[in-house]
Amino acid sequence: MAHKARGASTRAVHAGESRQKMFHAITNPIVQTSTYVFRNTQELIEYTTGRIDREEYGRYGNPTQHVAEQKLVELEGGESAALFSSGMCALTTVLLAMLSAGSHVIIMDECYRRSRQFCLQVLPKYGIDVSFVETGNYEHLDDAITDRTRLIISESPTNPYLNVLDLERLVRIARAHRVKVLIDGTFATPYNQQPLSYGIDLVIHSATKYLGGHNDLMAGVVIGSRTLISAIKEFRDIMGGIIDPHGAYLLIRGLKTFGVRMEQHNRNGLAVARYLEQHPRIKRVYYPGLESHPHYQIARQQMRGFGGVVSFEVDGDLEQTSRFIDHLTIPYIGPSLGGVESLIEQPAIMSFYEMTREERLAIGIKDELVRFSIGIEDANDVIEDLDQALRKM
Ligand SMILES: Cc1ncc(COP(=O)(O)O)c(C=O)c1O
Repeated sequence: MAHKARGASTRAVHAGESRQKMFHAITNPIVQTSTYVFRNTQELIEYTTGRIDREEYGRYGNPTQHVAEQKLVELEGGESAALFSSGMCALTTVLLAMLSAGSHVIIMDECYRRSRQFCLQVLPKYGIDVSFVETGNYEHLDDAITDRTRLIISESPTNPYLNVLDLERLVRIARAHRVKVLIDGTFATPYNQQPLSYGIDLVIHSATKYLGGHNDLMAGVVIGSRTLISAIKEFRDIMGGIIDPHGAYLLIRGLKTFGVRMEQHNRNGLAVARYLEQHPRIKRVYYPGLESHPHYQIARQQMRGFGGVVSFEVDGDLEQTSRFIDHLTIPYIGPSLGGVESLIEQPAIMSFYEMTREERLAIGIKDELVRFSIGIEDANDVIEDLDQALRKM
């Protein structure tokens, strides 16, 4: 097993794995089973009474998933992890496990649209009060906490404007009120940011993104203390949203190259952000690695690199922005981020098209906003592609 003091790439390759595996194979097997059988009744009794530790049923656990979970524990620096069938499944199960009727949760307002939807539309149905606080408004956050508040949730960096939270300050406020904090670190990954080391209680990721890294799997993970994760796992057993064995294998496979992929995403993100910032047809670039970003200083303190997502506003209207996107030849037009292939989207059309322009603007989605997830292609090629598309806009 890899040691925690070893580098992130070494941990990504080796953590969680036995040196000798089935049939002496170097790769971890996909244990493609829904159930596990007992030799005899005595063994079943020993298992039920906790005298032996083993698998029982696929909804409760699988050996391939355990390896993937241990890798993520060692990468994130926590005690325990629980994997789910998607990032949303991780978030919704965690919230339902931690909150109950009469409790109150605070969420920073700039976040993935489905997370907002869950808090706005689902939690109130179960008697859970929700407050939205402007992202990064710490005074307002402090004021919003009541004696019923159980949890504060925020992304960092946020989707899509890549705002970075001051984790130390967040923890100070939460601790003063004995409230727990959950960070969605999907955009940063444990390679670039380690929220648990600041005292954050739980970190979740859409593992569909950088952790899997190849646009070929859906998964989500929550990492934290043994006590919290064990309660969440009990809820997962009931809700049933565990990752499947093949998904867990793909995640292990993707994590093998985690370190080198993240280095390339970080390099590409910065190079593209710098290029866009000086381009006359670009109005504004949002990337925490740029000095012009309002959270550049805190991002530099908290993050090793800034990832591959760059958001920007084109100097044009909705149609001109679409024209620019349609002229690109490297990125695919599609939702998601964090994979080896570059993906680009115009949020006003990709995710928010059913809203009126006014409704979109009210949640900060401008017509000319573009979210670009730069893959691991060569930065020069990506920049040349942007150049020709901007000329044809
Ligand atoms: C920041 C963030 N969190 C969570 C999710 C949800 O993850 P999944 O799509 O794996 O359910 C997403 C998806 O885009 C996301 O961007």
